[in-house]
Amino acid sequence: MAKRILITGHRGYIGSVMVPYFLEAGYEVHGADTDYFEPCLLTRERAVIGGRRVDLRDGLTPRELEGFDAVIHLAALSNDPIGNLNERWTREINGDAAVRVAALAREAGVERFLFSSSCIMYGAAADPAQAVEETAPLDPRTQYARSKVDAERALSPLASAHFSPVYLRNGTIYGLSPRMRFDTVLNSLAGSAVAGGAVRVFSDGRPWRPVVHVQDVCAAFRAVLEAPREAVHNEAFNVGAGFVNVQIGALARYVAEASGARLEVLAQPDADQRTYRTSFAKIGARLPAFQARWTPREGAARLVEELRALPLTRGRFADERFTRLHWLKKLLGEGTLGEDLRWTARPPAPRKQGREVMA
Ligand SMILES: NC(=O)c1ccc[n+]([C@@H]2O[C@H](COP(=O)([O-])OP(=O)(O)OC[C@H]3O[C@@H](n4cnc5c(N)ncnc54)[C@H](O)[C@@H]3O)[C@@H](O)[C@H]2O)c1
Repeated sequence: MAKRILITGHRGYIGSVMVPYFLEAGYEVHGADTDYFEPCLLTRERAVIGGRRVDLRDGLTPRELEGFDAVIHLAALSNDPIGNLNERWTREINGDAAVRVAALAREAGVERFLFSSSCIMYGAAADPAQAVEETAPLDPRTQYARSKVDAERALSPLASAHFSPVYLRNGTIYGLSPRMRFDTVLNSLAGSAVAGGAVRVFSDGRPWRPVVHVQDVCAAFRAVLEAPREAVHNEAFNVGAGFVNVQIGALARYVAEASGARLEVLAQPDADQRTYRTSFAKIGARLPAFQARWTPREGAARLVEELRALPLTRGRFADERFTRLHWLKKLLGEGTLGEDLRWTARPPAPRKQGREVMA
């Protein structure tokens, strides 16, 4: 079993949940991150590991990767709006840097490379009634989606008898993280319900999406790490279970039920009406150790409860720290990040225990 792992992007939304998850499972966990979002804390971190502050476009050497059993590669610019801000950054970080880190890992003798990919690469379903399998033609519509397709395609030829890249295609992820994001669909619905008393759906509510709890994402990565090589070698997996496919309108209803917030379906003509359902047959068959636990209804109720307990105020919900695009724009605007999205001055060293954001 892979026991000594490196998680890149470990100080992001998923990474801040995944680090304690693997520590608690008995792994030795190291991190590598350029720390764009290091101070963006909504809650205290359960575990803080040192990690390397490094830009993966050119940082890290094979020597620094020696002795790891696996690399989990989360580091990326993580959505469409950032991709649209500057396509080159997303191409270089999500594509080129991912391939670079994988090549270094291979050279250093690391055996498994788990790439955090996305269902966004399927585009809009030709037949929305048909659940999309991993073999479906890829139809990336944005730079972010293209960067994930390009990375998967460039990683695949690196596969060898001693090196297994694996592509975990996530749906939209939700759930509480110390480095919270309110720019993903269910986190946003729950945040607006708790902080503002309203759940707003811009489309007519009919589009389908796979929404996966961040704890289930961690469990899927663990199942891939612990699976026999032949079950996962150079394979793509949609991450979830059949019940995570849900219509946006139903999601909003679950949030409204749990929170008592007002439900508003705006049905705006220009709203995002992309609809697709994802098949999870492959992960179910190949990785029996993985069981998704959170139904969208239960997960939504849990998130509402957790946000209430904070409590999530309007100020916290609207804080730029929790919308990835807004935070990067702030760093760019003040000149802390330069035109190549690199630090212009050395940012302050990570805190031992990060500061929580106060309303
Ligand atoms: N959150 C979701 O809904 C979702 C869905 C599908 C796929 N994913 C993928 O999962 C991964 C993690 O997503 P997240 O939500 O935690 O995103 P995030 O933006 O919260 O975290 C990404 C992390 O990568 C780091 N990073 C970015 N560029 C870097 C660079 N050049 N060098 C080193 N570190 C760098 C950032 O500092 C940040 O800590 C990403 O690859 C994302 O595309 C996320």
